[in-house]
Amino acid sequence: MNKIKKAVFPVAGLGTRFLPATKAIPKEMLTVVDRPIIDYAVREAVEAGCETLIFVTGRTKNAIADYFDKNPELENELEAKQKLEALEIVRNIIPSHVKCVYVRQSEPLGLGHAVHCASPLITPDEYFAVLLPDDLIAGHPDGALKQLFQAHDRERCSVFALEQVAWSEVEKYGVIKPSNDETTPILIDSIVEKPQRDVAPSNWSVVGRYVLSGRIMGLLEQVQRGAGGEIQLTDGIASLLETEKMIGLPLSGKRFDCGNKVGFLEANLHFGLRYLNK
Ligand code: UTP
Repeated sequence: MNKIKKAVFPVAGLGTRFLPATKAIPKEMLTVVDRPIIDYAVREAVEAGCETLIFVTGRTKNAIADYFDKNPELENELEAKQKLEALEIVRNIIPSHVKCVYVRQSEPLGLGHAVHCASPLITPDEYFAVLLPDDLIAGHPDGALKQLFQAHDRERCSVFALEQVAWSEVEKYGVIKPSNDETTPILIDSIVEKPQRDVAPSNWSVVGRYVLSGRIMGLLEQVQRGAGGEIQLTDGIASLLETEKMIGLPLSGKRFDCGNKVGFLEANLHFGLRYLNK
């Protein structure tokens, strides 16, 4: 039985790679077929057993809260018109036992800063999940977060998802140095954000799914601006590594990077074809 019940969704980024669309629509609300990107990550978290969903949002992100809230006018209208299938879909965006909490990141200072904004809701002695909705993962056979929870249950430490990328791509990601023993999950020796190819410790990149010890919150408070001038989650993880064991789990499934146009299109094709073949 999974004991981790809280999942943090940092969704306060500006989404500049999708301008002009993201001038008025949060990136996380762009749709992959008929559901917003954020919906996929939320369903993955709920499927894994999370019951408190903490969204770190910004000024232009109200549509996300509206999406996960009830809409009585729409529900009444659908009921009156006997559009029962649509009514069922609208009523079941999230199950009733799951609660949504919203905290604001007043300035997009970086992913590490965004995660830290959830610190009043996390205690140092609990583990919590972080999901970056941009990474849309068709996990197989289990969802990606469920896979991480299973690894956490066995190893009792922080764990995050890994994927091997082309060496030409390493400078876009957080990259780990595996310890010498060749085990799976991979025991992490060190981690660095967006390394140049010639100094990258491996081509194992961090994917946007984490189970983190609550102690990271205190460490994130100390983290200075790093790669890209942002407060990086990777730097908080590097501090945590100084005192705690951490493992990386190679993902089973397919990841789409919906933070860029090509990945977003690929996700639409992948999930669209599923509908076509139904
Ligand atoms: P990205 O690096 O993709 O940044 O953030 P972005 O602003 O969303 O998009 P671009 O690069 O301008 O196109 C990765 C995740 O971290 C969140 C984003 O919302 C996204 O889910 N994030 C990033 C925050 O919540 N706050 C930040 O300050 C930065």
